[in-house]
Amino acid sequence: MAIIFGGRSSEHAISCSTAAGVLSAIDRSRFDVVPIGIARDGSWLLLPDDPEPLRLDGARLPEVRAGHPEVVLPFGPRTGRVLVSPASEGARVLNGVDVVLPLLHGPFGEDGTLQGLLELLGLPYVGSGVLASAAGMDKHAMKVLLAGAGLPVGPYTVITRAGWERDRALCLDPIPSLGDVVFVKPSRAGSSMGVSRVVLADGEDALVAAIEDARRHDPKVLVEAAIDGREIEVAVLQGRGTDRPRTTAPGEIVVGGDRAFYDFEAKYIDTSSTSLRIPAVVSDEDEAAARALAADAFDALGCEGLARVDLFLAGSGPIVNEVNTMPGFTPFSMFPQLWQHEGLTYPELITELLELALE
Ligand code: DAL
Ligand code: MG
Repeated sequence: MAIIFGGRSSEHAISCSTAAGVLSAIDRSRFDVVPIGIARDGSWLLLPDDPEPLRLDGARLPEVRAGHPEVVLPFGPRTGRVLVSPASEGARVLNGVDVVLPLLHGPFGEDGTLQGLLELLGLPYVGSGVLASAAGMDKHAMKVLLAGAGLPVGPYTVITRAGWERDRALCLDPIPSLGDVVFVKPSRAGSSMGVSRVVLADGEDALVAAIEDARRHDPKVLVEAAIDGREIEVAVLQGRGTDRPRTTAPGEIVVGGDRAFYDFEAKYIDTSSTSLRIPAVVSDEDEAAARALAADAFDALGCEGLARVDLFLAGSGPIVNEVNTMPGFTPFSMFPQLWQHEGLTYPELITELLELALE
């Protein structure tokens, strides 16, 4: 099997950290591993089978760097490195792979682009296909599909590139109806990159600055109502055969200190003020509703393999915040820990995902 990680998105380092976890834990008696890193410039490199340089260590963000043999694709990345030489090491590598574990987060990896490439190559891979990956990456498309399936999502408004360039006032107009506090998010990004919490009473300049910040990640921006509720997450695995998706008990993110929300710092750098409560202490009724909603969201997007469904537990019941088709996957991340709690160890989880992909 090959793992592919790094990538061109702003979540490059998080993907490396995920890869370090998988390289350390995968069942070597069953799988030969080919580690393929995508550098920030888009070149594909054959890396040593060593998790150490890929670990997230304090504030040092790991990176895939040049200096390794290039992996040959039948067509080249936009950087212009089109290498078609069947005798090269890279070509031999890809020819020998039975299944790919794409451990990429964010655009150019989690968004259907890599999935499309693997479909073209005819290589089985772990996780969602082209459409579910693309919909899962785009928070706007995701909400439209979820709401279209009759599932509860929070109130929001969308600011498109053309809309913002044409008439800012018109874009800002619906925002106060969302409430006193809003979250401004790039439609396609992850790990809270470009996300701001804005108190509308702080004035329009703060709101516009938050929108401009989000637009640096994606010209399409979502402004969401802040939901009054606890933040819980459910891990989902594809069912076997025609079975319903399998779900875990929910976990809870408890953001402490003076952090306003679960931002990038709280997720990966200064993790001391945040804790993951596994399982979340919720009523049996809320747990059943959260699990059912997570499975419904998985089906509504047409997900395969795995997903983490992030929910708000509001007074009226759970609401879907978002679906992540390649959730953070280090041994300490929410997704594997939720499965561990159900009795599936981290190495067993990796094996399960590879088996699902080969089914
Ligand atoms: N986007 C990050 C990796 C997550 O959803 O866990
Ligand atoms: Mg996310």
